[in-house]
Amino acid sequence: MDTPRDTPASVNPLRMLTLDRLRRRTSVKWRTYPDDVLPLWVAEMDVPLAEPVARAITEAVALGDTGYPVGGAEYAAALGEFARKRWEWDGLAVERTAIVPDVMLGVVEMLKLVSGPEDPVVVNCPVYPPFYQFVRSTGRPVVEAPLDACGRIDPQALDDAFARAAGGPARSGGGGVRPVYLLCSPHNPTGVLHTRAELTEVARLARAHGVRVVADEIHAPLVARGATFVPYLSVPGAENGLSLMSASKAWNLAGLKAAVAVAGPQAAEDLARLPEEVSHGPSHLGVLAHTAALRDGGDWLDGLLAGLDENRALLGELLAEHLPGVRYRPGRATYLAWLDCRGLGLGDDPAAVFLERGRVALNSGIPFGTGGAGFVRLNLATSPEVLTEAVRRMGSSVRV
Ligand SMILES: Cc1ncc(COP(=O)(O)O)c(C=O)c1O
Repeated sequence: MDTPRDTPASVNPLRMLTLDRLRRRTSVKWRTYPDDVLPLWVAEMDVPLAEPVARAITEAVALGDTGYPVGGAEYAAALGEFARKRWEWDGLAVERTAIVPDVMLGVVEMLKLVSGPEDPVVVNCPVYPPFYQFVRSTGRPVVEAPLDACGRIDPQALDDAFARAAGGPARSGGGGVRPVYLLCSPHNPTGVLHTRAELTEVARLARAHGVRVVADEIHAPLVARGATFVPYLSVPGAENGLSLMSASKAWNLAGLKAAVAVAGPQAAEDLARLPEEVSHGPSHLGVLAHTAALRDGGDWLDGLLAGLDENRALLGELLAEHLPGVRYRPGRATYLAWLDCRGLGLGDDPAAVFLERGRVALNSGIPFGTGGAGFVRLNLATSPEVLTEAVRRMGSSVRV
């Protein structure tokens, strides 16, 4: 095991805040349920801001530097440097990037660049529910390619889904079908880190079926120690792909809107057609915060990653003790755990039972699409104490 246990509290941001202090927060994680509920649902983390990020924001506030952003070049340059250092990838060229308001709105913009309003979008179910909501709100149908029994991309299922998507009905305005594959890498909710071989096969299949790939890589910095994230655009065959990246998940900056769209060399012309008004969405404070995180937040991130490794191991132990009927396959990325509760006899929506009886808020698996019924998604980015109490409560709620 490459993970020493018990990271000192001084470097593990997951051990720094008390529950009383967290309950003073006003974000959705803390204001949706009453105070007797432990919230381990939406993807926000129970961490203080990384010091370089806090400094960048407070300096801007002190200066009254709260105007419009000048563009996304500095953010993209910081991301490029981060990619070089962490992923040994030097293919992120600032001139092939664009600033977007956030990852999901960026996904929608990428879909508009490479497909028409009726073209199908393939997703790997179960998957982050907004993949369905945002895609469908553009009018595009979703085609599901289920993950395999281990939660990994199933090349055969993807091949079949690409064939279905590419062979869809003729467009009302004439013209061929332009299918898109919305890849989640690393995968939410399973925490699966796709390998270079898997992503290379994805690129091959996409080329074979004329499918364009849009990769949501928001969880990319959040990998287990000893593991390495592989950017989709770094694999052979992915040159016409597009990716969305952001510091928002890894440094808990969802309230500070900004993200970066990255084009492979053969998608540069597509990205150049992005309407100028899209760049009006990200906030200046968001751009400053995300840039500082990527540039100077590496040590803080390392402390977090060590803490998440500990929590993944702790969750396994807690489930074995309190909920042996739950199946959990720890992922190598994200701070999310996908728990198979079908053995508990709680029906399709165990999250409702854990909330009602145990006062623990988790995400129901149902909105994650086919394969989600009977599962819950648990957010591990909390202190070991909260995680322990949450699983103890979940255990008691099954025994009533
Ligand atoms: C896979 C994935 N994409 C996108 C988002 C949302 O990102 P944003 O707030 O930048 O739209 C999340 C949030 O949890 C996510 O897990």
